[in-house]
Amino acid sequence: MRDLSGAYRCALITGASSGLGLEYARQLAPFAETLILVSRREEVLEEIARELIDLHPQLSVKIFSSDLSEASDRANLIGALAAGNLRPDLLINNAGMGDYGEFRSSDWEKTAEMIRLNVEALTHLSHALLPGLSVEKGAILNVSSLGSILPIPDFAVYAATKAYVTSFSEALRLELKDEGVNVLAVCPGPVRTGFGDRARRSTASKLPVQDAFYVAPEQVVHDSLRALVRGRARIYPGLKVAVAAAGIGLLPICAVRFIMSFRPRRS
Ligand SMILES: NC(=O)c1ccc[n+]([C@@H]2O[C@H](COP(=O)([O-])OP(=O)(O)OC[C@H]3O[C@@H](n4cnc5c(N)ncnc54)[C@H](OP(=O)(O)O)[C@@H]3O)[C@@H](O)[C@H]2O)c1
Repeated sequence: MRDLSGAYRCALITGASSGLGLEYARQLAPFAETLILVSRREEVLEEIARELIDLHPQLSVKIFSSDLSEASDRANLIGALAAGNLRPDLLINNAGMGDYGEFRSSDWEKTAEMIRLNVEALTHLSHALLPGLSVEKGAILNVSSLGSILPIPDFAVYAATKAYVTSFSEALRLELKDEGVNVLAVCPGPVRTGFGDRARRSTASKLPVQDAFYVAPEQVVHDSLRALVRGRARIYPGLKVAVAAAGIGLLPICAVRFIMSFRPRRS
């Protein structure tokens, strides 16, 4: 990707051990000086760091094993970044989780963890790293979801956390406009990663997603990095997803309610 060259020196990517986060690391590696990879699974991050450095010997890769749903882990991470004089000019808030099924029968611990990870961690890291991002005229890329523009029964809390992410990103972008810090909300539709399996409550349940709707992680990341360097506010990667988002945006709320009353996510 030509126009990414020289755009960002040091990127911090949360949820870099798999799925979209790993793909962000792979696509940024040829262009960045330093990548800071964060997730819980340290051995996986170590292996990814080795892979990236083998391919890009100029690259410095720092890894941090951190459970971002825990405030104390986040505080340790923020402290370690300061102590190591690591000042990202790109923050990719990607780590996230879902939970398919009725709210009533959900496990409260999982629901609370999801809110802490999808909402609190993203907000906390944005707040903590913003002073450095302002100095560097950097950027924040928040991974939201197509679900952020829909109230989704059987995926209610997840969709609500992503509604927060999209709304927060749009508002923060306006606050930071004059400081030269760009904020992008990335709103993918379904992507084949480990996300679906982790969101499922039982291995027997099936994800009610049309195959044709899936977008490859490579495309989601490529399109969103291109949107970032172009200074865009929001992107729905993939043509079908973009068309669906545009259609949803045109519908009156009563039509959205009617469509969602069929509970398309019921499994
Ligand atoms: N896949 C989709 O269909 C889809 C669609 C729209 C939006 N998204 C969003 O895309 C983002 C990335 O998801 P993905 O599809 O790439 O799923 P994924 O393959 O399950 O990746 C999730 C990543 O988050 C990390 N993570 C999970 N819990 C964490 C915690 N408590 N602390 C730190 N890291 C944690 C995981 O690493 P560890 O297990 O090592 O901690 C992993 O690297 C999420 O925000 C998701 O909501 C996904």
